[in-house]
Amino acid sequence: MKKILIILLFFLTSCKNIDKTYDDFYNQIKKYGSFDKDLIYQYYESYQKTNNLINSLNLVNHPDFYNTKSSTYLYNDIMLVNKNHPLPSNFIPNDLIKVKDINYIKRENEEMLINNEVLEHLTALFIDAKTNNIDLCLFSAYRSFEKQASLWHEDYSFDNMYKAVPGYSEHQTGLAVDISTSYDGLTSSKTIAFDFLEKNAYKYGFILRYPKNKEQITGYNYEPWHFRYVGDISRLIYENNLTLEEYIYNYVEIK
Ligand code: DAL
Ligand code: ZN
Repeated sequence: MKKILIILLFFLTSCKNIDKTYDDFYNQIKKYGSFDKDLIYQYYESYQKTNNLINSLNLVNHPDFYNTKSSTYLYNDIMLVNKNHPLPSNFIPNDLIKVKDINYIKRENEEMLINNEVLEHLTALFIDAKTNNIDLCLFSAYRSFEKQASLWHEDYSFDNMYKAVPGYSEHQTGLAVDISTSYDGLTSSKTIAFDFLEKNAYKYGFILRYPKNKEQITGYNYEPWHFRYVGDISRLIYENNLTLEEYIYNYVEIK
């Protein structure tokens, strides 16, 4: 009899705990604008797996985020440009300036342009590299839609895991850069420059945009030279080994 009472007591206590967890969950999730009360049990189920409120909302509200085309490219002021999130062909970023005071290589009769805030942080990154005896060099920054189109047609292929179709390149944002040294160039081999960038770029607001083993998410092969300026969120992305897609899905409520 005593045993039965203990089991009953245990059962009642755990039910109460579940209720409390559910109530806490409900009180928090109902505050989000994308919350739909008809989907509450689906959110709760996702929450039990993810333990992340925003991820649970996004998982239920936007299950096709990773594989369906969308015209949205701004998520809470963060630009997301990938194979599913193109920019309009006439999109030209504000705040483009000519690259100056750092090493860069450009084609003849072309200007090297970049977002002005990005240049400031890139310059600091280059100075840091220099103190470590690494002479970084910028190979590419802003590319217009037309420029990307000419690159695309130079080596046209439908299944290109290195080159973006015009309109689908991050370089059109002015926030992406291809960096290496003038002697290593843009190769996938492990070099001191890539090693330095992989470990330090986040301190200046940059993330490695196409990491190894994340090809399914980013849609591109590992590109150790391609960095994307994201500002303050770079540390969180770096420390949690996220892609920009994963960051948005886990931390930004998709409306
Ligand atoms: N290499 C990157 C994917 C681009 O073309 O934008
Ligand atoms: Zn690039």
